[in-house]
Amino acid sequence: MPLNPQLDTLSDYPFEALRSLLSPVTPRTNEAPIAMSVGEPQHQPPALLTETLAAHAHEWNKYPPMAGTPELRQAIADWLTRRYRLSPGALDPDRHITTLAGTKEGLYLFASIVVPRDKAGQPPVVLCPNPYYLVYNGAATMAGGEPVFLDATRDNAFLPNLDDIPKAVLERTALFYLCSPANPQGTIAGLDYLKKAIRLAREYDFVLAADECYAELYGTIPPPGALEACQALGPGANGLFDNVVVFHSLSKRSSAAGLRSGFVAGDPRYVGQFKRLRDFGGCQAPLPVQAAATALWRDEAHVVENRALYHRKFDLAEAALGGRYGFYRPDGGFFLWLDVGDGEAAALRLWREAAIRVLPGGYTARVGQSGINPGRQYIRLAVVHDAATLEDAFARIRRVL
Ligand SMILES: Cc1ncc(COP(=O)(O)O)c(C=O)c1O
Repeated sequence: MPLNPQLDTLSDYPFEALRSLLSPVTPRTNEAPIAMSVGEPQHQPPALLTETLAAHAHEWNKYPPMAGTPELRQAIADWLTRRYRLSPGALDPDRHITTLAGTKEGLYLFASIVVPRDKAGQPPVVLCPNPYYLVYNGAATMAGGEPVFLDATRDNAFLPNLDDIPKAVLERTALFYLCSPANPQGTIAGLDYLKKAIRLAREYDFVLAADECYAELYGTIPPPGALEACQALGPGANGLFDNVVVFHSLSKRSSAAGLRSGFVAGDPRYVGQFKRLRDFGGCQAPLPVQAAATALWRDEAHVVENRALYHRKFDLAEAALGGRYGFYRPDGGFFLWLDVGDGEAAALRLWREAAIRVLPGGYTARVGQSGINPGRQYIRLAVVHDAATLEDAFARIRRVL
């Protein structure tokens, strides 16, 4: 059977691996199972979403524009400008922005326009943080790139060390996926870090794809963004956003993962090519969905409320788990990244003894430069449930681990 040989290089999707680990095991407890393995928001999105969908219900018959309606792209440009204090007019909704049916498809498809067959006569590289969001590796591999994993461990404050990337690798690099706030560790890349990454991207002519889909879930400091860093750094040879694109989503910001709505913004050379490619193989969002997304990007009140709900969840986590398992309160995102010695063994024990599903950290990482899997000693917990469920879960974790 003819198959793309690149498929063999993909690892198991982590949730498949988790199913294989846990399905032979029956919990030895009557407690209700609690799934903390999946990063799925549990809050309801604001009423604005369904109200706007209903108000646009007569538009389901129409083919929607692939790049997003002008209203949606304007709402996004306004939001980016407010959020990252960009100069008014720096973003042109037609040139700098295209909308996506969730960032997952965008992050995946993007690699296929920026990974050439070779770079400077050598196999092209895609830099990925390690641990990483699984789509980066899949996208890199299927686009014919060689993923190079940059370990993000406690030793480098959970951010890949840019100074450690060999020059020979940078010369072959076509694309760098950077995640801030990071899934799973919650690390925020500061403005200086982002500027440095952009300088490298311009010097070695690769694209920095900043995955900022957790940008609105943070503790005290709003994470800076890569477009903001472009403005702080000044333009490259072709424009302000040279060599940089950012990915954003309503899935976490507005608890609207089911809406499938996100966007990519930045360097018009890539955004333009991306629009072309998506005309062939992208997913359009229906017009009512685009209208709802427009309303959500224009509204901040629900985002402030959402953030406050997560703060309370992390207060509970800190009260219950602080001082154990290398607990730290993440700067952004909604995951706990707990050091339990052996992530797989801990996940098995938690399921068997307490009916709690967590993701072994090693399933979202690869053996890196150091020869070890930097996630192997961790478990990842999505802190998304209501207070009573979380208190119950944390008590069970303390009982079992
Ligand atoms: C780091 C990261 N990037 C991107 C996504 C994709 O989000 P969506 O496709 O819902 O916009 C996720 C989803 O969990 C994620 O964790």
